[in-house]
Amino acid sequence: MQTLQTTSLRVSENQLFILDQQALPQEKRWLAADNVALLVDHIHTLRVRGAPLIGLSASLLLALLAQRGLNRDALQQALETLRAARPTAVNLMNNLDRMKQALAREDYPQALEAEALRLVEEDKQLCDRIAEAGSALVKPGSRLLTHCNTGGLATAGVGTALGVIALAHRQGKWVDETRPLLQGGRLTAWELGELGVPYQLIADSMAASLMAQGQVDAVWVGADRIAANGDVANKIGTYSLAVLAHYHQIPFYVAAPQTTLDRHCPNGAAIPIEQRAAAEVTGVAGSFGAVQWAPTGAAVYNPAFDVTPAGLISGWVLDSGVVTPAQVAAGAFAPDNG
Ligand code: MRU
Repeated sequence: MQTLQTTSLRVSENQLFILDQQALPQEKRWLAADNVALLVDHIHTLRVRGAPLIGLSASLLLALLAQRGLNRDALQQALETLRAARPTAVNLMNNLDRMKQALAREDYPQALEAEALRLVEEDKQLCDRIAEAGSALVKPGSRLLTHCNTGGLATAGVGTALGVIALAHRQGKWVDETRPLLQGGRLTAWELGELGVPYQLIADSMAASLMAQGQVDAVWVGADRIAANGDVANKIGTYSLAVLAHYHQIPFYVAAPQTTLDRHCPNGAAIPIEQRAAAEVTGVAGSFGAVQWAPTGAAVYNPAFDVTPAGLISGWVLDSGVVTPAQVAAGAFAPDNG
């Protein structure tokens, strides 16, 4: 299979590797991901994460397995297992729908490879276009707040919301720590450091007081799924930021590629939300070790994502350009407009 390298995916010598996002930033460790059970485990443990990257890694694995001689039935089974690996991000389903079409072709090994590589290339271009469209909205000297990680680690390209921020590259950005899994504190802080973009890390609960002090000019987040009415599912804590931004009259932008749009999902209530293990809330674990601070057996509620209603969003920055609230209300994301 053709070699390939992005910030967090690598195909070389007929192997698929992922950059272990649980080990970052302490350690830059590449892990093999060349069978379905392994990749599903990497997705469950967030070693592979970010809506676009999950879809791309699953597509590349299918292409690789086809190159290694897996027959159509086995590939179909693999596709279904991968499809169920994470319920909220729709990029995975969208990418695998395209792979399914390639699998139906006579020359499916070649078709799957070509389609997976095309998806990677397209994602890079989508990110570039989002960054261009979004950076035009960033006023000079803006202090931006972002949540979770939406950069090169989460995509094949420069990222979505973080791609906008990196391109705009102005002084003074705030990065939410992003409890419980700390994608902001571990990954976004690491990526911005690598890019030389200045930032200050805050605990999630500090955003409100910063906004009250006039220290945040705009909030930029990514998305795991955008419903037809404009509601957005994204990392837990996004909704709180949207409510806070609305109260403080701060623009709140969502940056995402077309692959994140689910025109057949009518609204946020119809988006399945992944529930995760209690241990992520009762303590913390990583390459630095593990600690538990809550009493053993503490009752826990741990949804990985929340839904921000369209009414709190100032603009949806897609690779096709900026979509306004008025356009969304007029049906820009409706199934018949696709
Ligand atoms: O659970 P994660 O870390 O995969 O959650 C990621 C997010 O919520 C991102 O904002 C989203 O997937 C977009 S990544 C370009």
